Amino acid sequence: MSCVFRSLSTIFVAIFLFTFSITSTEAYDALDPNGNITIKWDIISWTPDGYVAVVTMYNFQQYRHISPPGWTLGWTWAKKEVIWSMMGGQATEQGDCSKYKTSPPHCCKKTPSIVDLLPGTPYNQQIANCCKGGVINSWAQEPNNYASSFQLSVGAAGTTNKTVKPPKNFTLLAPGPGYTCGPAVVGKPSKFISADGRRVTQAMMTWNVTCTYSQFLAQKTPTCCVSLSSFYNDTIVPCPTCTCGCQNNATHPGSCVDPRSPYLASVVNGPGKNSLTPLVQCTKHMCPIRVHWHVKLNYKEYWRVKVTITNFNYRMNYSQWNLVVQHPNFDNLTQIFSFNYKPLTPYSSINDTGMLWGVKFYNDFLNQAGPLGNVQSELLFRKDKATFTFDKGWAFPRRIYFNGDNCVMPPPDAYPHLPNSGSRVNFSILTLLMMYFAFFLLFE
Ligand SMILES: *[C@@H]1O[C@H](CO)[C@@H](O)[C@H](O)[C@H]1NC(C)=O
Ligand SMILES: *[C@@H]1O[C@H](CO)[C@@H](O)[C@H](O)[C@H]1NC(C)=O
Ligand SMILES: *[C@@H]1O[C@H](CO)[C@@H](O)[C@H](O)[C@H]1NC(C)=O
Ligand SMILES: *[C@@H]1O[C@H](CO)[C@@H](O)[C@H](O)[C@H]1NC(C)=O
Ligand SMILES: *[C@@H]1O[C@H](CO)[C@@H](O)[C@H](O)[C@H]1NC(C)=O
Ligand SMILES: *[C@@H]1O[C@H](CO)[C@@H](O)[C@H](O)[C@H]1NC(C)=O
Ligand SMILES: *[C@@H]1O[C@H](CO)[C@@H](O)[C@H](O)[C@H]1NC(C)=O
Ligand SMILES: *[C@@H]1O[C@H](CO)[C@@H](O)[C@H](O)[C@H]1NC(C)=O
Ligand SMILES: *[C@@H]1O[C@H](CO)[C@@H](O)[C@H](O)[C@H]1NC(C)=O
Ligand SMILES: *[C@@H]1O[C@H](CO)[C@@H](O)[C@H](O)[C@H]1NC(C)=O
Repeated sequence: MSCVFRSLSTIFVAIFLFTFSITSTEAYDALDPNGNITIKWDIISWTPDGYVAVVTMYNFQQYRHISPPGWTLGWTWAKKEVIWSMMGGQATEQGDCSKYKTSPPHCCKKTPSIVDLLPGTPYNQQIANCCKGGVINSWAQEPNNYASSFQLSVGAAGTTNKTVKPPKNFTLLAPGPGYTCGPAVVGKPSKFISADGRRVTQAMMTWNVTCTYSQFLAQKTPTCCVSLSSFYNDTIVPCPTCTCGCQNNATHPGSCVDPRSPYLASVVNGPGKNSLTPLVQCTKHMCPIRVHWHVKLNYKEYWRVKVTITNFNYRMNYSQWNLVVQHPNFDNLTQIFSFNYKPLTPYSSINDTGMLWGVKFYNDFLNQAGPLGNVQSELLFRKDKATFTFDKGWAFPRRIYFNGDNCVMPPPDAYPHLPNSGSRVNFSILTLLMMYFAFFLLFE
């Protein structure tokens, strides 16, 4: 008895040490360990009282994109700088420019907040990579469209590389919280190649700032859940009840919409139509997004899975959605139907994670809740005789992200299992422990 107790306490001490050592490291996503947003601040030319700079944000994250309403970038000026004018972006507030009698600056705030301009901005206010409403795609999904730029003319700033100071305390909302930015570091001056490729110019000075994401900082309630089924068991394991909220008529009447309601259209188009707060279809889980994984067929050499993503949010069309799925058989994925696929191999030896996204103009647009609000695909895996089994829930995914947010899985002991499978108890304890580790890896 005491022996059992001792080994149990050893396990818990180990878990404690393990989680402690991980919690102490900052923003870290195990599936995209190098993911970051880099802000490059290039001083292009000096002016009588300051400089002109081009600021470019690069989204070096494999699957996390910046969705509408886009990014907001803030900082604290190191001295008494002002922004005389801007192109391809704007400060959200001008601030107090009363000491300037004629032609006041664009922004006099000590801590300006910058947003992108909208598509359709007149050409004479644009620069390259601007004016996309602050929306940036992820690096893996669109390697040619992962940057966003604006230009600003800074006054009262110093006019040599010895007197200028980089801004401090960069903050990035993209669009919500979750990013932490480091200090500006002096980099090698950027080089710019002219449109015809015949001339190269160089920045006077370049500063880099790196921002990283942490789901823990974002402190989001779940937005997505997973349900499971299989050909070998009739049970459909639903998303856990109340994953993203609870249906409660008493305290939150109208917190969700019944699709059979005769007033559906008027509720959906009612007040808050353009707000970002989801208006979800009434379900037990109340999530805007559900991912269903169905183990569909068993062949001699292969097995087949059907994945369906369903949108329960009446207020959101997800354009350029993506899914990250971890399953040990991804190293033998043979075919994928009607989705794009890219293996993510953060640790080059382990190839168990894939990123899936829609085919352009076919299913890259996940329509709002309703009959069109779903996309689906089938995956064909080649069996690796050494590891393949339908037993112990092996055929189900280990984790799933939708648009970079972790989707809540059903508890492992509820997974559909093979008739008469013997070692359930062992399995659930082991899996619970593994889930426990995975949880801390994931949220740090
Ligand atoms: C940011 O991401 C890029 C691309 O993966 C990488 O080269 C760079 O080292 C990263 N920066 C930091 C500070 O991690
Ligand atoms: C400033 O520019 C001079 C040359 O113009 C260079 O030698 C020096 O290293 C630069 N200093 C900084 C801090 O960039
Ligand atoms: C930067 O932010 C930190 C923490 O919010 C604050 O203590 C510090 O005073 C800020 N620095 C400046 C220059 O605003
Ligand atoms: C600054 O960022 C740009 C873009 O990622 C990169 O090309 C450059 O090497 C970086 N410079 C430094 C000093 O990190
Ligand atoms: C909420 O109200 C509807 C209609 O009034 C009812 O059908 C449903 O069962 C109620 N749900 C809960 C959780 O009370
Ligand atoms: C989603 O797209 C459809 C079709 O393009 C459009 O009718 C609908 O208004 C859009 N919904 C939202 C919430 O933007
Ligand atoms: C990972 O597996 C996929 C699918 O089998 C394969 O296409 C890819 O080349 C593999 N990547 C690595 C780095 O092994
Ligand atoms: C599955 O992939 C692994 C790693 O790429 C490879 O070693 C193994 O031979 C593959 N198995 C089959 C059955 O193709
Ligand atoms: C199917 O799986 C469920 C959930 O694990 C289990 O309760 C049930 O007994 C299984 N059905 C059969 C026929 O084994
Ligand atoms: C644990 O698993 C072993 C073999 O996998 C099995 O023989 C044993 O009965 C299981 N124990 C329990 C309590 O299910």
